[in-house]
Amino acid sequence: MRIDILTLFPEMFSALTESIIGRAREKKLIEINVINIRDFSTDKHQKCDDEPYGGGAGMLMTPQPIYDAIKSVKKESSKIFFMSPKGNVFNQIKAKEMSKLDHIIILCGHYEGIDNRILEIFKPEELSIGDYVLTGGEIPAMAIVDCVARLVDGVITKASLDEESFSSGLLEYPQYTRPFDFIGYKVPDVLISGNHKEIAKWRKEMALDITKNARPDLLGEENE
Ligand SMILES: C[S@@+](CC[C@H](N)C(=O)[O-])C[C@H]1O[C@@H](n2cnc3c(N)ncnc32)[C@H](O)[C@@H]1O
Repeated sequence: MRIDILTLFPEMFSALTESIIGRAREKKLIEINVINIRDFSTDKHQKCDDEPYGGGAGMLMTPQPIYDAIKSVKKESSKIFFMSPKGNVFNQIKAKEMSKLDHIIILCGHYEGIDNRILEIFKPEELSIGDYVLTGGEIPAMAIVDCVARLVDGVITKASLDEESFSSGLLEYPQYTRPFDFIGYKVPDVLISGNHKEIAKWRKEMALDITKNARPDLLGEENE
């Protein structure tokens, strides 16, 4: 999978060189290119923002540099996503769907957002990471790329993905590691019993319990 991220702030993406995503890139399981929209500006000062028509606070990203940046990477098979608080809220189901794509282009807005003609021309899918407003699409893009990349075949073992929160519609059960006794807090006995059937049963019960308490909506139930 190839992911092209279009941004005015490419330095922010150094986080995507670390840990599991960094290793997946080294192994060429995913290719992530961070492209500076400013490099495409035809303005003599490489200006990429201007005041909104009709007045109002703040600045908007101008269409020309974004248009040319998209054109430089877009292929027939590309799917374009625009980071936007107005989009559908991203979730694990969307991440799985995106992990099957061949080429993803992610456009990050900044300031007050982007000139709407970019949306009219390219019709990207708008994705939000929650009902709140951030200064730019860079952090949402990083969250989405991190989540999608770990679902790409070979990046993480299937067993790890199968048991984690949301994969089966439930939140994950509690987990423990060494030491058995930490300042008087002990690991539940069932986990050291060696009885795999009982361990699986306990984990299922705990996952159900946690989901019921923390996110009853995942079980189709209302919050009390
Ligand atoms: C300050 S926001 C613009 C908000 C816009 N004026 C509005 O009221 O909807 C600047 C950029 O940050 C990104 N952004 C902010 N919040 C976001 C969110 N919750 N999810 C995804 N992107 C977001 C978008 O790319 C947006 O264009």
